[in-house]
Amino acid sequence: MTRCLCPGSYDPVTNGHLDIIVRAAALYDEVVVGVLHNPSKRGRFPVEQRLEFIREAVPEGLSVRVEAFGGQLLVDIAQELGATAIVKGLRGGTDFAYELPMALMNRHLTGVETVFLPGDPALEHVSSSLVSEVSQYGGDVSGLVPDHVRDALVARRG
Ligand code: PNS
Repeated sequence: MTRCLCPGSYDPVTNGHLDIIVRAAALYDEVVVGVLHNPSKRGRFPVEQRLEFIREAVPEGLSVRVEAFGGQLLVDIAQELGATAIVKGLRGGTDFAYELPMALMNRHLTGVETVFLPGDPALEHVSSSLVSEVSQYGGDVSGLVPDHVRDALVARRG
């Protein structure tokens, strides 16, 4: 039984995240999507809503669990879950520069490996912060996030 952890803020989930989650599910018996929140910071969406957005978007029949974590090191979460790898998507060199020190630190701490999947080039420009900003100012983010997330972004305009 192999299990991986796909961690992130997912505030909110994008189609880029979902692509990685679905592809991770093809590589591991079980994927745990870890929605990590900083208890002292208010995000764009409450954690419960972020979990719901992901649960609604993950295709049926995949072995994917979606759970929230806060105030904990990622490596401790991975260990508690029995996850053998942390899986992350890379959109390009900037992501790699941001992710590499974290991957090395996490391996230093417990030996857990990070597996990088190349992000879908069609979604290279997609991030939670960018889609939120574009939507906030009236831009259409259809196709970049699930429709229910787009609708929630539209609903919080103003
Ligand atoms: O979606 P994000 O915001 O890029 O995700 C970053 C996240 C939450 C995966 C990262 O900040 C993280 O791992 N936080 C948990 C605390 C931790 O372990 N920090 C040390 C990382 S080396």
